[in-house]
Amino acid sequence: MILIGNWKMAPEKERDAVTLFKKTLAIARTYKKIHFVSVVPSLHFPSLVKQKQTTLSLGLQSVASSDAIAQTGRIGAGMAKSYGARYAIAGHSERRAQGETDDDVRDQVTLLLQKKIIPIVCVGEKERDAHGWYLSMVKEQVEKAIKDRTAAQVKQMIIAYEPVWAIGSAAVREATALECREMIIFIRRIIADMYTEKDAQKVVIIYGGSVDENNVDTFVTEGGAQGFLVGRVSLDPRRFGVLAKRLATSIKA
Ligand code: PGA
Repeated sequence: MILIGNWKMAPEKERDAVTLFKKTLAIARTYKKIHFVSVVPSLHFPSLVKQKQTTLSLGLQSVASSDAIAQTGRIGAGMAKSYGARYAIAGHSERRAQGETDDDVRDQVTLLLQKKIIPIVCVGEKERDAHGWYLSMVKEQVEKAIKDRTAAQVKQMIIAYEPVWAIGSAAVREATALECREMIIFIRRIIADMYTEKDAQKVVIIYGGSVDENNVDTFVTEGGAQGFLVGRVSLDPRRFGVLAKRLATSIKA
């Protein structure tokens, strides 16, 4: 079970980032059955990676789609590696909204795999329609990200199903456990069709979008999620601690 906190563009101050990191670390030490990852703003990364410890992995929120130097404002996968990033998100909907395409996401995943950084590939529809067209959108996102790779590479990837309508403060609502379960089955099916059933079973598929301390357990017990990408609640150590506790209990149950 993996629990990934996506800090997005917070906190503002380095001091607050270190405090949040230490509090998250204390939570991670309490629940050993869960693998914790904090995906932090790149500017805070060096200060946090210095806090020597092994319980909590660190990741970045995005890397550039190519190694070309002429990309003002971007962070390269090679830089991420040299600073010690173990994970990186590719294709978060907030970046897709700023113009990142499926091809960009694919290229980012390629670079991350080359650098042995685990890609957390976000996929998810903007809205649902009665005819199920949204399924083709998700299918295309998954296919683009995983096609023409080795089975070993695909098994290293984490796929995060994050319906855009469920993310952030503008969320309509979180997905239901059933919607989560159906999409995880659907995504696994896509992987199985391109690789093998056995390979598909090995890919970690997680859920993200308005996950909190009250809904996390049903996403595990009924939703079939193998982990979570948590935004807002990951910035509030008190709530994140309760969420982790509920998650730990639901794995045991
Ligand atoms: P949220 O964000 O938990 O605040 O909805 C999730 C995400 O953006 O990954």
